[in-house]
Amino acid sequence: MTDLPEWSLPLCGCLLTTMDFDTESIEYAKQFPVEDTDVFVATFPKSGTTWMQHILSLVLNGGDLTPINTIPNWDRVPWMGSKRLAEIADQLKSPRALATHLLFAKMPPSFHTSKAKVIYVMRNPKDILVSSYYFHQMATFLDDPGTFDEFIDKFLEGRVLFGKWTDHVKSWRRAKLGDRIMFITYEDMVQDLPASIRRISDFLCCNLSEEVIQNIAKCCSFKKMKTNPLSNFSLVSKEYMNNDKSPFLRKGTTGDWKNHFDSQQLTRFESVIHKELEGEDFSLPWSLE
Ligand code: A3P
Repeated sequence: MTDLPEWSLPLCGCLLTTMDFDTESIEYAKQFPVEDTDVFVATFPKSGTTWMQHILSLVLNGGDLTPINTIPNWDRVPWMGSKRLAEIADQLKSPRALATHLLFAKMPPSFHTSKAKVIYVMRNPKDILVSSYYFHQMATFLDDPGTFDEFIDKFLEGRVLFGKWTDHVKSWRRAKLGDRIMFITYEDMVQDLPASIRRISDFLCCNLSEEVIQNIAKCCSFKKMKTNPLSNFSLVSKEYMNNDKSPFLRKGTTGDWKNHFDSQQLTRFESVIHKELEGEDFSLPWSLE
């Protein structure tokens, strides 16, 4: 890839931000001792990572609100490979929750030999693109996204955070992790959050009561998270993230792509995604059309 964006560091088979990652933090991640009880949220950016970080913090703590009301999400559920992980790793209590945008193959060796579990959150790529377009406007450490039309090209070429969506999805869908991995969609979570939390609780063998599940769902609503400074990124200096330009918790809905793509753009987008997923033995949970 030529003309790399200024904010980017081409490492781990994709583009990382120099704000959060450097070669040392990636080296640290390679040596990171993953524990069997660790739980990872794996996502392509803008798929609902922050939401799942919030849910996991509650599910793994039996619905106790203390972590979500006292610790910012980036320290509660830190990102693999980030500079921050090295700083706070020894403060994490087992069972630890970690987030990753890395490709499956770039996870540390100890992850591959461990029994750590993974929740992979997928989202309709057209909504990811829209969310990312606004994120590029508010995240001032990234380049200006240009017009929506220009941003479609950037997205399809992988000149955005963590590269191509299709590479990410293929890498995790092909992972042979058996019952260590659970796939869920952002759309499932919007449609029925308590049912999604129940699935997560069962997957993690947390055995939560119906009352606790309902309480967790209330705490994880878009409205609640949008006003929680520990999950809405308002604690980050405006120099890096300007919530006035576009809030991090922006709309929290499905299908916003219908308000952004014209028919020519849709055809272009869909034909590239279809081509790149041709021959894969998994099907997407939503129609691309
Ligand atoms: P939108 O920009 O479409 O609103 P990530 O955390 O992976 O960067 O994803 C951010 C997207 O998840 C944003 O989407 C954000 O609003 C949405 N999101 C975060 N918390 C949510 C919640 N509780 N309910 C619904 N959507 C949520």
